[in-house]
Amino acid sequence: MKTIFITGGAGFIGSTFVRLILEETSNVEIINFDALTYAGNLENLNGLDKTRHKFIKGDITKREEVFDALPEKAEAIFNFAAESHVDRSINSASEFVLTNVLGTQVLLDAARAKNIRRFVQISTDEVQGSLPEDSNLFFTEDSSLKPNSPYAASKAAAEHFVRAAHETFGVGTIITRCGNNYGGRQFPEKLIPLMIANAMNDEPLPVYGDGKNVRDWIFVEDHCRAIWLAYEKGKSGESYNIGARNERQNIEVVKSILDALGKPHSLIKFVTDRLGHDRRYAIDATKVENELGWKPQTTWEEGLQKTIRWYQENQDWVNRIRNGAYRDYYKNHYRMEVGGK
Ligand SMILES: NC(=O)c1ccc[n+]([C@@H]2O[C@H](COP(=O)([O-])OP(=O)(O)OC[C@H]3O[C@@H](n4cnc5c(N)ncnc54)[C@H](O)[C@@H]3O)[C@@H](O)[C@H]2O)c1
Repeated sequence: MKTIFITGGAGFIGSTFVRLILEETSNVEIINFDALTYAGNLENLNGLDKTRHKFIKGDITKREEVFDALPEKAEAIFNFAAESHVDRSINSASEFVLTNVLGTQVLLDAARAKNIRRFVQISTDEVQGSLPEDSNLFFTEDSSLKPNSPYAASKAAAEHFVRAAHETFGVGTIITRCGNNYGGRQFPEKLIPLMIANAMNDEPLPVYGDGKNVRDWIFVEDHCRAIWLAYEKGKSGESYNIGARNERQNIEVVKSILDALGKPHSLIKFVTDRLGHDRRYAIDATKVENELGWKPQTTWEEGLQKTIRWYQENQDWVNRIRNGAYRDYYKNHYRMEVGGK
């Protein structure tokens, strides 16, 4: 049995990764270390094989907790844990510096102290800034880091510390940078689940600015498969940009959701734009395609159908969040209540 240590595995992408690896391998056991912030949810881990999955509640910014939980026999650390929502980073950036930067450094220290062979940092295309719309420009691994939001700045800073650990101490690092993920179990503050949840409840769908910001969407399981391949086949010290070549304007995404649910476009409500809102992200995935032999397996149409179905079948999951602390965040941010008033 090979042991891997995953942080943030009760969140959206981390929990999908845990499920996928348990399903698609037979010789991997997982230690899942997560602080259970507002975004972490133990329900995301229901039904997992307890013999190969151990959950530990712990905080990556707390040295002792990390050092106690990380066994020397671990083959690799996959760092998914983060404060992940751009809007929250605009309201208050300090938690992002703490978790995303200091937390990453604590994990790097632990990896070094315990001689862990691989350190996989789950980063984002947002570290590379914004591309002009209507251009043929794409982010490659060599694009410079030009983060625009406090969230992106904290993820870029983390990347620098990961690189430094490799260059200075020879830690076996891999950085993956992915575009916007979608799929089941994503916290409903993010665009796609927010729009699905509001549409299902016949509530207004708040769309920033003119709705023409472009994101490069990828189905979450495809992202997780690419991370696994980067771990297995990637070269130490390298970065890998992951994208499914699926650029969409936000407004197009929102209309597709309304159409799929048979709801009217009149539910769309344009709201004041996000501060510093990046216009376009687009990823050149040539390196992961050629070097790792990765290709996305899910088309946008299939992925969106599956995602909508997941939210339709798991309305209790959504409602428990919408009835909790999320209500205050939503009211503060959009100046309207969950429920649309
Ligand atoms: N969602 C996307 O589209 C996307 C795209 C590219 C990269 N990423 C990156 O992927 C990772 C996972 O994103 P996500 O969307 O699943 O995020 P998420 O917000 O759904 O989950 C984050 C998880 O991290 C945990 N966490 C937060 N602070 C912690 C701490 N101090 N110690 C331990 N655990 C902590 C939370 O409890 C939660 O379970 C993040 O690093 C994010 O930057 C996300």
